[in-house]
Amino acid sequence: MPVYLESDMLVFASPIYYFGMTAQITAAIQRVYCIGKPAKATKAALLLSSASPNPYEGAIATYKSLCAYTGLEDMGVFTAAGDENKSEAKLKEICEFAAKL
Ligand SMILES: Cc1cc2nc3c(=O)[nH]c(=O)nc-3n(C[C@H](O)[C@H](O)[C@H](O)COP(=O)(O)O)c2cc1C
Repeated sequence: MPVYLESDMLVFASPIYYFGMTAQITAAIQRVYCIGKPAKATKAALLLSSASPNPYEGAIATYKSLCAYTGLEDMGVFTAAGDENKSEAKLKEICEFAAKL
């Protein structure tokens, strides 16, 4: 919680479980509902991994609604399906994104 309160960006990362984010990250998101976004946070990003190619619609919709509700700016959504999860190319893509923030 101290780290959350001091953060300037929220990065949500989850495997896809049955077309949504996991129960664990959902619980964390719901836990901070009463606090809202951290005072200094202005940006957000989403990292999703999955087994199949395109099960992301529900998780992305939740994330985008959360950004709209909290006023966080969506800086990017990254997905990795199957073998992409352990690929150097995907790691490079995300590192390049992070370096530009
Ligand atoms: C309970 C459960 C539900 C899952 N549901 C989906 C799903 O709906 N779609 C999908 O593509 N992958 C699904 N997966 C696969 C995970 O997203 C995948 O295992 C995860 O991204 C991590 O990749 P890895 O197993 O290669 O480490 C599910 C895995 C579990 C354990």
